[in-house]
Amino acid sequence: MIDHASLRDRAEAALPRDVFAYFAAGAGDETTLARQERAWDEVLLRPRVLRDVSATSAASQVLGHPITSPVLVAPTAMHRLAHPEGEVGVARAARAAGSLLVLSMRSSTRVEAVAAAAGPFWQQLYVLQDRGVTDEVGRRAAAAGALALVVTVDTPRVARKRAGLPVSRPSTGIIESLDHRHVADPRLMQAEDVGPRDLERLAENSGLPVVAKGVLTAEAARDCVAAGASAVVVSTHGGRQLDGVVPAPLALPEVVEAVGDQVEVYVDGGVRTGSHVLKALALGARAVLIGRPVIWALATGGSDRVRDLLVDMASEVEEALALAGCPSCTDVGPDLVRR
Ligand SMILES: Cc1cc2nc3c(=O)[nH]c(=O)nc-3n(C[C@H](O)[C@H](O)[C@H](O)COP(=O)(O)O)c2cc1C
Repeated sequence: MIDHASLRDRAEAALPRDVFAYFAAGAGDETTLARQERAWDEVLLRPRVLRDVSATSAASQVLGHPITSPVLVAPTAMHRLAHPEGEVGVARAARAAGSLLVLSMRSSTRVEAVAAAAGPFWQQLYVLQDRGVTDEVGRRAAAAGALALVVTVDTPRVARKRAGLPVSRPSTGIIESLDHRHVADPRLMQAEDVGPRDLERLAENSGLPVVAKGVLTAEAARDCVAAGASAVVVSTHGGRQLDGVVPAPLALPEVVEAVGDQVEVYVDGGVRTGSHVLKALALGARAVLIGRPVIWALATGGSDRVRDLLVDMASEVEEALALAGCPSCTDVGPDLVRR
């Protein structure tokens, strides 16, 4: 089993105080952050027995792309604050483990360099006040080989974090995804008037499927799908946006019920164990994303440690599937969780 608490403690010891605080923080009073892992623990499993699980595999697909296990790397900002290998190290690790990197728009490495190391990847975007730059980042990611754009819809502005923490990040000036040129420019902050038309335009301009990230209700999911989203991510942004929202495992069933027959649904926020992943699949998700554990692994051991983390997660998922009587991800159904 991965010891997440000790991984986090080691990262805390390895990182400068403000950098660790930036990565670890939640928004507001951090009630959503405090609740998110527990919310998965509180979902209860109903395993099947007397099933042949001798050839169990955790392999799956997202938007037709094959993955070793249904665990993707969530988009998180500025990996070079955690380790000099930064996003290139994470990209290499995701590729080696057969996972898929979702690259943050607030990356500390240029997309072309990450793409060269990652092979296939997905690009996360915020809709910026300057739509021209937003579209350019999408087109540039597409040209570099991105397979999808993950448009984050829960951030019309960046939520305040704990007192004493910078609103969004330590001031390092290493956001290279935008070639340095815009870091302090207000037009490059998130657009407060983000709307359905932005999803449609980004899909048209890039020619890529759009995944809407940060959906917590049936209504929001329907709006995203009506605007052309090919998938949605149920997410509280790791407890970093509106505090006090419904935790991901509780939001997931209503989103799946609303749009799960039309698009793929993914989920993130506090997913830590193979059993959590099994619960996510049983509640209707096709895959999960993990954020902070990847940062802690990067901080403590660079790319190799991130690869080991992803391999270990895949192996925990495979074990959970077998113990629940499911030889593959597609065998998992709603009967596996107690409602
Ligand atoms: C330090 C940090 C930076 C993040 N940056 C982004 C980002 O740039 N874009 C985005 O859509 N989500 C971002 N997120 C949210 C993650 O994609 C993801 O939703 C969340 O981390 C999942 O929760 P977990 O960290 O508990 O696994 C960030 C999260 C953290 C912790």
